[in-house]
Amino acid sequence: MVFGVRDAVAGPCEISCTMSLTAIVLAAGLGKRMQSELPKVLHPAAGRPLMLYPLRAAIEAGATAIVCVVSAEVRDRAIGLCRTAMPAADVDVRVQELPQGTGDAVKVGLDGVESERVLILCGDTPLLRADDLRTLIRQLDAAPGTELALMSARVEEPSGYGRVLRDANGRVTEVREHRDLRSDAERAVQEVNAGVYVANTAALRSALERVKADNAAGEFYLTDVVALAAAGGGALAVLGHADNLLGVNDRAQLADAERLLFQRIVRRHQVAGVTVRGDAHIDDSVEIGADARIEAGVQLRGRCRIGAGTVIDAGSVITDSEIGERATVKPYSVISESRVAAGAQIGPFAHVRPGSEIDEDAHIGNFVETKKTRVRKGAKANHLAYLGDGDIGEGANVGAGTIFCNYDGFRKHKTVIGPGAFIGSDSQLVAPVQIGQNAYVATGTTVTRDVPDDALAIGRTAQENKAGYAPRLKARLAAQAKKQ
Ligand code: UD1
Ligand code: CA
Repeated sequence: MVFGVRDAVAGPCEISCTMSLTAIVLAAGLGKRMQSELPKVLHPAAGRPLMLYPLRAAIEAGATAIVCVVSAEVRDRAIGLCRTAMPAADVDVRVQELPQGTGDAVKVGLDGVESERVLILCGDTPLLRADDLRTLIRQLDAAPGTELALMSARVEEPSGYGRVLRDANGRVTEVREHRDLRSDAERAVQEVNAGVYVANTAALRSALERVKADNAAGEFYLTDVVALAAAGGGALAVLGHADNLLGVNDRAQLADAERLLFQRIVRRHQVAGVTVRGDAHIDDSVEIGADARIEAGVQLRGRCRIGAGTVIDAGSVITDSEIGERATVKPYSVISESRVAAGAQIGPFAHVRPGSEIDEDAHIGNFVETKKTRVRKGAKANHLAYLGDGDIGEGANVGAGTIFCNYDGFRKHKTVIGPGAFIGSDSQLVAPVQIGQNAYVATGTTVTRDVPDDALAIGRTAQENKAGYAPRLKARLAAQAKKQ
């Protein structure tokens, strides 16, 4: 008797340790309905290209080898993607030269496959769950002799999908594509093919040899193997939840799929102890510490890490950035490719642009823009400032309206402010320039030369007060206005 490893070990190995399993992911179609320059399977949903989701589900379900069938155009990007997003997985990327149909794509994928079973997935079904795949494999296990099991779903609007046709006894007889349906009764069938299959490799190979392109699309349909399996050892269809099986063919379906992905991701963080309110969009690759709070309308895009206890308030958009613990990002702030350390406060309405490093307990207030600037521990720039290519020392205070004049029209230059320095409001620091430790720049100064430690820099025209002049000036201006 084969020892049922599945009984002894939980996790990804649960099912297939008794039988090797190769997953073939079909991702070489033209994706015409997307009407896009970008190949369909590379379109992002919740921050990852569509094709990455089924690849990941296949690995989680215990596939020991993965073959990804793509068009020549997508090949290099697919290889790069697998390397960066799934470095541990063994993914063999193959090219289907011409998109002659899903049956032809599987033939390309099957070449050289030695495992007894193959799992076939489509690159355009991002909601697929490993659990569903395990169920499908288990059902095939439980029906000895059966050559193929496919996942089906019951949908209100089956238009566009292949229909699962059954005989009077409920046995699957075939899958017929929408364009090839022959009667209203067939069109009314609501059980559709989800495009997910587990098959006996040898039987599948032999069936594919017999598939012809004699259908409305003139393509080699993988779905034709269902009838061949049904007439041979048998085929079965396992009903899954329609949401998990959604196929993306156009932008409307892409939007539906992404909405469901976002819901799933939010739920995952909520269960892990994060408060998420409203319609936050959190990409799949984002990590969030416990007790963080993500408010409505927040978008966390790409590779973000949000520390424990941190608040990201309403409407903020954070991309590829790291926010430390107990930090506060107040409403409507935008942070990109930057690092914000523990306890720092950003916003409201701040713009932290790429290469910014905001250290512990530093403050970046409303209408402050930083770019490639380090704001060291406890330093503050609370209102209306442009801080580009700078380094602001510990505890320094940058007043409202301060501008780092970093660009001379040709090159960027650096502004360095020493620890404890005070920059008065409405100052311009013309880079390259250094302000010394504990130095003081008087309000309204245009700084063009370095300021030594502890020095006061003041550069503005002296003020003159003309006694009693205001009423006379007003009278003159009023008379001029009347004349016109
Ligand atoms: C397919 C199924 C249909 C099912 C639906 C579920 C066939 C013939 N039809 O239809 O029964 O209801 O999925 O979503 O299989 N691809 C290739 N090479 C090709 C053609 C397609 O790799 O030559 C890939 C595509 O990139 C895509 C997948 O196969 O990821 C499915 O192709 P698609 O054109 O989307 O098939 P559907 O019309 O949706
Ligand atoms: Ca599809």
